[in-house]
Amino acid sequence: MSEPLTLGNLHPALRAAWHPVASAAELDAGPVGVTLMGERLVVARPGGAGTSAVAFADACPHRNGPLSLGRCVDGTLECPYHGWRFDAAGACVDIPALGAAGPVPGRAALVPHAVREAHAIVFVALEPPAVDVAPIPDLADPTLVAAWLPVVRAEVTAAQFIDNFCDLAHFPFVHAGTFGAAEDAVVHDLPVERDGLGFRLRYEHVIENHEDPLVATGEHPLLQPRTMTYAYTAPFTVTLRLELPVAGTVNTIATWLQPETATTSRIFTVLLRNDLVDSAAAESAVAYEMAVLDEDLALLRAMAVKDVPLDLPAQVHTAADRATVELRRILRAFVTGEV
Ligand code: FES
Ligand code: FE
Repeated sequence: MSEPLTLGNLHPALRAAWHPVASAAELDAGPVGVTLMGERLVVARPGGAGTSAVAFADACPHRNGPLSLGRCVDGTLECPYHGWRFDAAGACVDIPALGAAGPVPGRAALVPHAVREAHAIVFVALEPPAVDVAPIPDLADPTLVAAWLPVVRAEVTAAQFIDNFCDLAHFPFVHAGTFGAAEDAVVHDLPVERDGLGFRLRYEHVIENHEDPLVATGEHPLLQPRTMTYAYTAPFTVTLRLELPVAGTVNTIATWLQPETATTSRIFTVLLRNDLVDSAAAESAVAYEMAVLDEDLALLRAMAVKDVPLDLPAQVHTAADRATVELRRILRAFVTGEV
Protein backbone atom coordinates (compact mmCIF):
# COMPACT_ATOMS: atom_id res chain seq x y z
CA MET A 1 0.00 0.00 0.00
CA SER A 2 1.34 3.45 -0.87
CA GLU A 3 1.89 6.13 1.75
CA PRO A 4 -1.04 8.50 2.36
CA LEU A 5 -0.49 11.73 0.45
CA THR A 6 -0.79 14.85 2.58
CA LEU A 7 0.36 18.37 1.88
CA GLY A 8 2.26 20.22 4.56
CA ASN A 9 4.52 23.23 4.25
CA LEU A 10 7.69 21.19 3.81
CA HIS A 11 6.53 18.86 1.03
CA PRO A 12 9.46 18.66 -1.44
CA ALA A 13 7.17 19.29 -4.44
CA LEU A 14 6.59 22.82 -3.13
CA ARG A 15 10.24 23.66 -3.81
CA ALA A 16 9.34 23.91 -7.52
CA ALA A 17 6.93 26.82 -7.06
CA TRP A 18 7.06 30.59 -6.73
CA HIS A 19 6.38 31.63 -3.16
CA PRO A 20 6.02 35.18 -1.82
CA VAL A 21 8.75 36.08 0.68
CA ALA A 22 8.72 39.88 0.97
CA SER A 23 7.05 43.00 -0.29
CA ALA A 24 9.05 44.64 -3.08
CA ALA A 25 9.21 47.89 -1.11
CA GLU A 26 10.73 46.48 2.07
CA LEU A 27 13.88 45.37 0.23
CA ASP A 28 14.69 48.97 -0.64
CA ALA A 29 15.75 49.53 2.99
CA GLY A 30 18.36 46.75 2.93
CA PRO A 31 18.70 42.96 3.10
CA VAL A 32 15.79 41.04 4.60
CA GLY A 33 15.95 37.64 6.30
CA VAL A 34 13.07 35.29 5.51
CA THR A 35 12.26 31.61 6.00
CA LEU A 36 10.88 29.55 3.14
CA MET A 37 10.00 25.87 3.67
CA GLY A 38 12.23 25.83 6.72
CA GLU A 39 15.24 27.35 4.91
CA ARG A 40 16.58 30.70 6.03
CA LEU A 41 17.22 33.01 3.11
CA VAL A 42 18.52 36.51 2.59
CA VAL A 43 16.72 38.59 -0.01
CA ALA A 44 18.36 41.84 -1.09
CA ARG A 45 18.95 44.41 -3.79
CA PRO A 46 22.76 44.61 -4.04
CA GLY A 47 22.49 47.48 -6.51
CA GLY A 48 20.33 49.51 -4.12
CA ALA A 49 16.70 50.61 -4.11
CA GLY A 50 14.88 49.94 -7.36
CA THR A 51 17.40 47.39 -8.70
CA SER A 52 16.89 43.66 -9.14
CA ALA A 53 16.40 41.45 -6.12
CA VAL A 54 18.50 38.37 -5.36
CA ALA A 55 18.08 35.53 -2.86
CA PHE A 56 20.70 33.30 -1.26
CA ALA A 57 20.94 31.00 1.76
CA ASP A 58 21.33 33.26 4.78
CA ALA A 59 24.69 31.80 5.74
CA CYS A 60 28.02 33.11 4.48
CA PRO A 61 30.29 30.36 3.06
CA HIS A 62 33.13 31.69 5.24
CA ARG A 63 31.82 31.24 8.80
CA ASN A 64 28.02 31.16 8.36
CA GLY A 65 27.63 34.90 8.97
CA PRO A 66 23.96 35.97 8.77
CA LEU A 67 23.97 37.88 5.48
CA SER A 68 20.52 39.30 6.25
CA LEU A 69 22.20 41.46 8.92
CA GLY A 70 24.65 42.80 6.35
CA ARG A 71 24.23 45.68 3.95
CA CYS A 72 24.09 46.41 0.25
CA VAL A 73 27.03 48.50 -0.92
CA ASP A 74 28.54 49.24 -4.33
CA GLY A 75 26.47 46.60 -6.11
CA THR A 76 27.36 43.92 -3.56
CA LEU A 77 25.90 42.21 -0.51
CA GLU A 78 28.35 42.61 2.38
CA CYS A 79 28.55 40.01 5.14
CA PRO A 80 28.31 41.59 8.62
CA TYR A 81 30.92 39.24 10.12
CA HIS A 82 34.20 39.84 8.23
CA GLY A 83 32.98 42.08 5.44
CA TRP A 84 33.27 39.73 2.47
CA ARG A 85 31.34 41.18 -0.45
CA PHE A 86 29.31 39.18 -2.96
CA ASP A 87 28.02 40.44 -6.29
CA ALA A 88 24.46 39.90 -7.54
CA ALA A 89 25.42 36.54 -9.08
CA GLY A 90 26.83 35.39 -5.74
CA ALA A 91 30.56 35.61 -6.60
CA CYS A 92 32.80 36.90 -3.81
CA VAL A 93 34.57 40.02 -5.08
CA ASP A 94 36.30 41.31 -1.94
CA ILE A 95 37.86 39.79 1.20
CA PRO A 96 38.98 42.76 3.32
CA ALA A 97 41.31 40.69 5.54
CA LEU A 98 43.41 39.80 2.48
CA GLY A 99 43.84 43.37 1.27
CA ALA A 100 43.39 44.63 -2.27
CA ALA A 101 45.64 42.03 -3.86
CA GLY A 102 44.26 39.09 -1.91
CA PRO A 103 43.20 36.11 -4.00
CA VAL A 104 39.53 35.19 -3.61
CA PRO A 105 39.04 31.41 -3.31
CA GLY A 106 36.82 30.10 -6.09
CA ARG A 107 34.57 28.36 -3.57
CA ALA A 108 33.81 31.66 -1.85
CA ALA A 109 30.46 32.01 -3.63
CA LEU A 110 26.77 32.08 -2.84
CA VAL A 111 24.34 29.97 -4.85
CA PRO A 112 21.49 32.19 -6.10
CA HIS A 113 17.86 31.12 -5.91
CA ALA A 114 15.40 32.11 -8.65
CA VAL A 115 13.70 35.44 -7.86
CA ARG A 116 10.72 37.00 -9.58
CA GLU A 117 9.08 40.31 -8.77
CA ALA A 118 5.41 40.74 -9.63
CA HIS A 119 2.38 42.41 -8.09
CA ALA A 120 4.68 44.41 -5.72
CA ILE A 121 5.80 41.11 -4.17
CA VAL A 122 9.16 39.32 -4.31
CA PHE A 123 8.74 35.62 -5.11
CA VAL A 124 11.40 32.94 -4.66
CA ALA A 125 11.51 29.41 -6.06
CA LEU A 126 13.92 26.93 -4.46
CA GLU A 127 13.86 24.80 -7.63
CA PRO A 128 12.73 25.60 -11.20
CA PRO A 129 9.01 26.36 -10.80
CA ALA A 130 6.35 24.20 -12.42
CA VAL A 131 3.76 27.01 -12.57
CA ASP A 132 4.28 30.69 -13.41
CA VAL A 133 3.30 33.50 -11.02
CA ALA A 134 -0.45 33.82 -11.50
CA PRO A 135 -1.65 36.98 -13.25
CA ILE A 136 -3.99 39.20 -11.22
CA PRO A 137 -5.97 41.07 -13.91
CA ASP A 138 -7.83 43.24 -11.40
CA LEU A 139 -4.50 44.83 -10.36
CA ALA A 140 -4.61 46.66 -13.71
CA ASP A 141 -8.27 47.71 -13.38
CA PRO A 142 -8.23 51.54 -13.17
CA THR A 143 -11.54 51.59 -11.28
CA LEU A 144 -10.03 49.62 -8.38
CA VAL A 145 -7.72 51.03 -5.68
CA ALA A 146 -5.23 48.79 -3.87
CA ALA A 147 -5.07 48.53 -0.09
CA TRP A 148 -2.52 46.07 1.30
CA LEU A 149 -3.09 44.19 4.51
CA PRO A 150 -0.06 43.86 6.78
CA VAL A 151 1.69 40.55 6.11
CA VAL A 152 0.30 38.16 8.71
CA ARG A 153 2.21 35.23 10.18
CA ALA A 154 -0.06 32.47 11.48
CA GLU A 155 0.19 28.95 12.88
CA VAL A 156 -1.39 27.41 9.81
CA THR A 157 -0.10 25.53 6.79
CA ALA A 158 -0.47 27.16 3.41
CA ALA A 159 -2.63 24.31 2.11
CA GLN A 160 -4.86 24.53 5.19
CA PHE A 161 -5.34 28.27 4.67
CA ILE A 162 -6.13 27.94 0.96
CA ASP A 163 -8.55 25.11 1.74
CA ASN A 164 -10.40 27.44 4.09
CA PHE A 165 -10.28 30.32 1.59
CA CYS A 166 -12.00 28.18 -1.07
CA ASP A 167 -14.61 26.79 1.35
CA LEU A 168 -18.17 28.05 0.85
CA ALA A 169 -19.99 26.37 3.72
CA HIS A 170 -18.31 28.07 6.68
CA PHE A 171 -19.53 31.66 6.33
CA PRO A 172 -22.58 31.57 8.66
CA PHE A 173 -20.55 29.83 11.35
CA VAL A 174 -17.00 31.18 11.28
CA HIS A 175 -17.97 34.65 10.06
CA ALA A 176 -21.06 35.23 12.19
CA GLY A 177 -19.29 38.26 13.67
CA THR A 178 -18.71 39.95 10.29
CA PHE A 179 -20.52 39.12 7.03
CA GLY A 180 -21.90 35.62 7.70
CA ALA A 181 -25.67 35.30 7.37
CA ALA A 182 -27.85 32.45 8.66
CA GLU A 183 -29.75 32.70 5.35
CA ASP A 184 -26.52 31.63 3.56
CA ALA A 185 -26.29 28.21 5.22
CA VAL A 186 -27.37 26.11 2.23
CA VAL A 187 -24.69 25.86 -0.45
CA HIS A 188 -26.34 25.51 -3.83
CA ASP A 189 -24.84 24.20 -7.05
CA LEU A 190 -21.09 24.92 -7.40
CA PRO A 191 -20.05 25.23 -11.08
CA VAL A 192 -16.33 24.67 -10.55
CA GLU A 193 -14.38 25.02 -13.81
CA ARG A 194 -10.99 23.32 -13.87
CA ASP A 195 -8.31 25.33 -15.66
CA GLY A 196 -5.01 23.41 -15.76
CA LEU A 197 -3.52 23.62 -12.28
CA GLY A 198 -6.25 25.95 -11.12
CA PHE A 199 -9.99 26.49 -11.09
CA ARG A 200 -12.57 29.23 -11.47
CA LEU A 201 -15.88 29.43 -9.72
CA ARG A 202 -18.66 31.99 -9.88
CA TYR A 203 -21.20 31.77 -7.09
CA GLU A 204 -24.10 33.91 -5.90
CA HIS A 205 -25.15 34.02 -2.29
CA VAL A 206 -26.21 36.48 0.42
CA ILE A 207 -24.28 38.18 3.18
CA GLU A 208 -24.86 40.69 5.93
CA ASN A 209 -23.24 43.82 4.52
CA HIS A 210 -22.11 45.71 7.60
CA GLU A 211 -19.70 47.73 5.44
CA ASP A 212 -22.51 49.47 3.53
CA PRO A 213 -23.11 52.90 5.15
CA LEU A 214 -26.66 53.02 3.77
CA VAL A 215 -27.62 50.02 5.89
CA ALA A 216 -27.47 52.15 9.05
CA THR A 217 -29.80 54.77 7.49
CA GLY A 218 -32.30 52.11 6.47
CA GLU A 219 -31.89 52.86 2.74
CA HIS A 220 -30.31 49.45 2.06
CA PRO A 221 -31.16 46.09 3.60
CA LEU A 222 -28.52 44.41 5.76
CA LEU A 223 -28.97 41.14 3.88
CA GLN A 224 -27.60 41.66 0.37
CA PRO A 225 -26.84 39.46 -2.63
CA ARG A 226 -23.18 38.97 -3.44
CA THR A 227 -21.47 37.40 -6.44
CA MET A 228 -18.15 35.73 -5.74
CA THR A 229 -15.70 34.83 -8.50
CA TYR A 230 -12.81 32.65 -7.38
CA ALA A 231 -9.66 32.17 -9.43
CA TYR A 232 -7.30 29.66 -7.84
CA THR A 233 -3.80 28.79 -9.09
CA ALA A 234 -1.63 26.04 -7.61
CA PRO A 235 -0.20 25.86 -5.20
CA PHE A 236 -1.18 28.80 -3.01
CA THR A 237 -2.57 31.79 -4.93
CA VAL A 238 -6.23 32.70 -5.00
CA THR A 239 -8.19 35.77 -5.94
CA LEU A 240 -11.78 36.33 -4.97
CA ARG A 241 -13.77 39.08 -6.67
CA LEU A 242 -16.78 40.16 -4.62
CA GLU A 243 -19.52 42.13 -6.34
CA LEU A 244 -22.33 43.63 -4.26
CA PRO A 245 -24.92 45.18 -6.60
CA VAL A 246 -27.06 46.82 -3.87
CA ALA A 247 -24.11 48.73 -2.42
CA GLY A 248 -22.46 49.07 -5.86
CA THR A 249 -19.14 47.82 -4.53
CA VAL A 250 -16.47 45.63 -6.05
CA ASN A 251 -13.79 44.12 -3.82
CA THR A 252 -11.19 41.74 -5.15
CA ILE A 253 -9.14 39.97 -2.50
CA ALA A 254 -5.86 38.56 -3.80
CA THR A 255 -3.98 36.24 -1.45
CA TRP A 256 -0.62 34.52 -1.66
CA LEU A 257 0.73 32.09 0.95
CA GLN A 258 4.35 31.69 2.00
CA PRO A 259 4.96 28.21 3.48
CA GLU A 260 7.41 29.38 6.12
CA THR A 261 8.06 26.53 8.55
CA ALA A 262 6.35 23.19 9.11
CA THR A 263 3.72 24.91 11.23
CA THR A 264 3.68 28.58 10.20
CA SER A 265 2.83 30.51 7.06
CA ARG A 266 2.82 34.15 6.09
CA ILE A 267 -0.23 35.57 4.36
CA PHE A 268 0.13 38.32 1.74
CA THR A 269 -3.17 40.03 0.88
CA VAL A 270 -4.21 43.01 -1.20
CA LEU A 271 -7.72 44.42 -1.51
CA LEU A 272 -8.66 45.97 -4.85
CA ARG A 273 -11.81 47.98 -4.30
CA ASN A 274 -13.89 50.58 -6.10
CA ASP A 275 -14.96 52.37 -2.90
CA LEU A 276 -11.64 53.46 -1.39
CA VAL A 277 -12.29 57.17 -1.83
CA ASP A 278 -9.68 58.25 0.73
CA SER A 279 -7.14 56.87 3.18
CA ALA A 280 -9.77 56.57 5.92
CA ALA A 281 -11.86 54.34 3.66
CA ALA A 282 -8.78 52.23 2.90
CA GLU A 283 -7.96 51.88 6.62
CA SER A 284 -11.51 50.88 7.38
CA ALA A 285 -11.53 48.26 4.59
CA VAL A 286 -8.25 46.80 5.82
CA ALA A 287 -9.50 46.69 9.43
CA TYR A 288 -12.68 44.91 8.33
CA GLU A 289 -10.76 42.35 6.26
CA MET A 290 -8.39 41.76 9.19
CA ALA A 291 -11.42 41.01 11.36
CA VAL A 292 -12.63 38.48 8.78
CA LEU A 293 -9.14 36.97 8.61
CA ASP A 294 -8.96 36.73 12.42
CA GLU A 295 -12.17 34.72 12.42
CA ASP A 296 -10.68 32.20 9.99
CA LEU A 297 -7.33 32.04 11.77
CA ALA A 298 -8.90 31.47 15.19
CA LEU A 299 -10.47 28.32 13.79
CA LEU A 300 -7.49 27.15 11.73
CA ARG A 301 -4.99 27.65 14.56
CA ALA A 302 -7.10 25.39 16.76
CA MET A 303 -7.17 22.54 14.25
CA ALA A 304 -5.03 19.63 15.47
CA VAL A 305 -4.26 18.44 11.93
CA LYS A 306 -2.64 21.10 9.78
CA ASP A 307 -1.54 19.12 6.72
CA VAL A 308 -4.22 18.63 4.07
CA PRO A 309 -4.92 15.05 2.92
CA LEU A 310 -4.82 14.76 -0.87
CA ASP A 311 -6.31 11.25 -0.87
CA LEU A 312 -10.03 11.97 -1.18
CA PRO A 313 -11.17 8.93 0.87
CA ALA A 314 -9.21 10.29 3.84
CA GLN A 315 -11.98 12.82 4.55
CA VAL A 316 -15.74 13.09 4.18
CA HIS A 317 -16.96 15.27 1.31
CA THR A 318 -20.41 16.47 0.27
CA ALA A 319 -21.83 18.25 -2.77
CA ALA A 320 -21.27 21.50 -0.86
CA ASP A 321 -17.51 20.85 -0.92
CA ARG A 322 -17.00 20.70 -4.68
CA ALA A 323 -14.57 23.61 -4.70
CA THR A 324 -12.30 22.19 -2.02
CA VAL A 325 -12.52 18.71 -3.56
CA GLU A 326 -11.29 20.21 -6.84
CA LEU A 327 -8.58 22.00 -4.85
CA ARG A 328 -7.39 18.63 -3.53
CA ARG A 329 -7.37 17.13 -7.05
CA ILE A 330 -5.32 20.06 -8.33
CA LEU A 331 -2.87 19.98 -5.43
CA ARG A 332 -2.51 16.24 -5.91
CA ALA A 333 -1.72 16.79 -9.61
CA PHE A 334 0.75 19.52 -8.65
CA VAL A 335 2.50 17.34 -6.07
CA THR A 336 2.63 14.14 -8.12
CA GLY A 337 3.14 15.73 -11.54
CA GLU A 338 0.21 13.66 -12.83
CA VAL A 339 -1.98 16.31 -14.48
FE1 FES B 1 30.88 36.12 6.29
FE2 FES B 1 33.20 35.75 7.50
S1 FES B 1 31.33 34.82 7.95
S2 FES B 1 32.71 37.17 5.97
FE1 FE C 1 -13.42 32.47 5.87
